Amino acid sequence: MSLDQNLNKILIIDFGSQFTQLIARRVRELGVFSEIVSHKKLKLKDINHSIKGIVLSGGPLNVYQINKYSFDKKILQLDLPVLGICFGHQILSKLNGGRVKQSKHREFGLANVYKKKNSLLTSNFFGNKKSKQVWMSHADQVSKLPKNFKVVASSTNSKFAIVENKIKKYYGVQFHPEVTHTENGKKLISNFIFLICKIKRNWSPKDQKNQLIKDVRKLVGNNKVICALSGGVDSSVVAQLLNKAIGKKLYCIFVNNGLLRKNEEVQVVQTFKKRLKMNLIYVNAEKEFLKKLKNVPDPEKKRKIIGNLFIKIFERYAKKIKNVKFLAQGTLYPDLIESKSVTGSQTSKIKSHHNVGGLPKKMNLKLVEPLKFLFKDEVRKLGLALNLSKEIISRHPFPGPGLAIRMPGLITNDKIKILKEADYYFIQALKDHGLYHKIWQAYAALLPVKTVGVMGDNRTYEYLCLLRAITSEDGMTADYYEFKKSFMQSISNKIVNSIKGINRVVYDVTSKPPSTIELE
Ligand code: XMP
Repeated sequence: MSLDQNLNKILIIDFGSQFTQLIARRVRELGVFSEIVSHKKLKLKDINHSIKGIVLSGGPLNVYQINKYSFDKKILQLDLPVLGICFGHQILSKLNGGRVKQSKHREFGLANVYKKKNSLLTSNFFGNKKSKQVWMSHADQVSKLPKNFKVVASSTNSKFAIVENKIKKYYGVQFHPEVTHTENGKKLISNFIFLICKIKRNWSPKDQKNQLIKDVRKLVGNNKVICALSGGVDSSVVAQLLNKAIGKKLYCIFVNNGLLRKNEEVQVVQTFKKRLKMNLIYVNAEKEFLKKLKNVPDPEKKRKIIGNLFIKIFERYAKKIKNVKFLAQGTLYPDLIESKSVTGSQTSKIKSHHNVGGLPKKMNLKLVEPLKFLFKDEVRKLGLALNLSKEIISRHPFPGPGLAIRMPGLITNDKIKILKEADYYFIQALKDHGLYHKIWQAYAALLPVKTVGVMGDNRTYEYLCLLRAITSEDGMTADYYEFKKSFMQSISNKIVNSIKGINRVVYDVTSKPPSTIELE
C-alpha cells in the first residue's frame, strides 16, 4: 500500500546522515509530506510531478569518493528547488563546478554564522541580529563557489556557510538546520518549503486520516482483513483506522496470554468491542501459554515459546474467518528506511523480540500497512484524530512477551498474580502524582529471590519487587528517572503493605546501555 502518488511532497535524498529522519520530521511538523529515499536507490525516473523540492542530506562521505555514492546529476536539471545540507551542500557545489576541500579546522558543535546578504532562505531567520548560532559537524567544506552562487552567510571557519543560486533555486547550508541546537533552524526549512518550493500544507493528522482511509478502501475493496490487536499504540491506531475505513470487514484478534497487565483484557474488550464497535475476537489462551511456559526459566526460550504460540493461536482463529485476503500490520516509517541511524534497532541481536506485527507468512495474505509512512509521534496524533482516547495513545510501551520477561526464573500463577498487583500500584501512583507522562516506560518486576523482613512482630520471607522507570527518546538508549524520596517511600510502603508476597522493594538505577530496559 502506498500513499496517493499525487500527494505533493519534499523528497529527501539520504546520503547516510544520522539526522536524515530529523529532516523528514521537521518538514512534516511544518505540515508538508516528505519522503526519504537512499541515494543508492533513487533513479531519475522516480522523480515525478508530486515532488516539489529536493533536500540533499548530510553524510559521512567525501565528495571525491565518487565510487562510494551514486547521484544522477540530471536530477539537478529538473527545474526543482534544491537544499543541500552539509555533505548535500558540498555535493551541490561540486556538481555545479565548485570545489570542496578538507577544512583547516574541523567544525563540530556550535558556531556562529554571520549574515552577508538577504535571501529568501533566511527570511526572518536572523531577526534583528547579524548572527545566529548553528550546529556544525563537518571536516570538509566548499572552498570555491560555482558560477552564479552567492554567499548568504559565513562562519569564522566556513566562508560559504549559507549559499544560494537564485536563478536555479539552489541553496546550500554547511550546518544542520534540522537539529534543535541550531537556533531558528526550523525557519530555514520552512522558508525552503513555503517560500522557495511554494508547496501548500497537506500533512495534518486530519489530512492523513482522510487520505489513509481513502487508500485503505481502494486497496482492500470488498475483501476481509484480519489484524492482531495488542492494545498498544500502533496496533490500536491501525485497528481504528481500518474500522473507520472498512467497518465490519475488519476482524481483530486479541490474544490474552495470561501475561498482560492487570485488567488489560477487560479494557481492550471494553474499548474496542463495546465503545468502538469493532469485530473483536477475544481469545483467552491463558492456560495454553502457562502450560507451555511451565518449568522454563530461560529468557530466550520464554520469548520463543510465547512468539510461536501466539502465531499458532492467531492462525487458528484467523482460519475460522473465511475468505480473508489481507493482514493489517502496524509497521512504522523508521522500520522501512534504510538508514536507521536515528531509531534503528540493534536490540533484536541482543534479545529475540516478539512483535505482534511479524505475523504468518504461510497464510498467503496481502499486507495492509497504513502507518508505514508515519513516525511514532505522527501515529499518536493520528490516533487522536481517529477519536482514540489520550489514555490509549500515550501509553507506555509494553513488550510482546509481557510479564514473562519481568519475572526472571520460573513463571507461576502465584507470581503472576503478585506481579500484576505490584505493577498496577506503581503505574497508578505515577498517574496520581502526575509523573506517568514524564516517564518513557515504567514497570514492576518480581525477582526470583526471597528475603527476610519483619511485619508487626513477625518474621516474613517473601519476594523482592524491582521497580524500573526510564526516560528515553526511542528505547535505544535510556536513563533511570530520578524520583523524589517521598514518592519512593510512599510507593514502597504501598506495595509492601498491600501485597502479600512482597516484603522488599528496590529501584533499578542502571542506564541502557550497559543494561537493557526489560530484565530478560
Ligand atoms: P530492551 O529491553 O531491549 O527494550 O532494552 C527496548 C524496548 O522494546 C520493548 N521490548 C519489546 N517490544 N516485543 C515488543 O514488541 C518484544 O519482544 C520486546 N522486548 C522488549 C521494551 O519494552 C522496551 O520498550
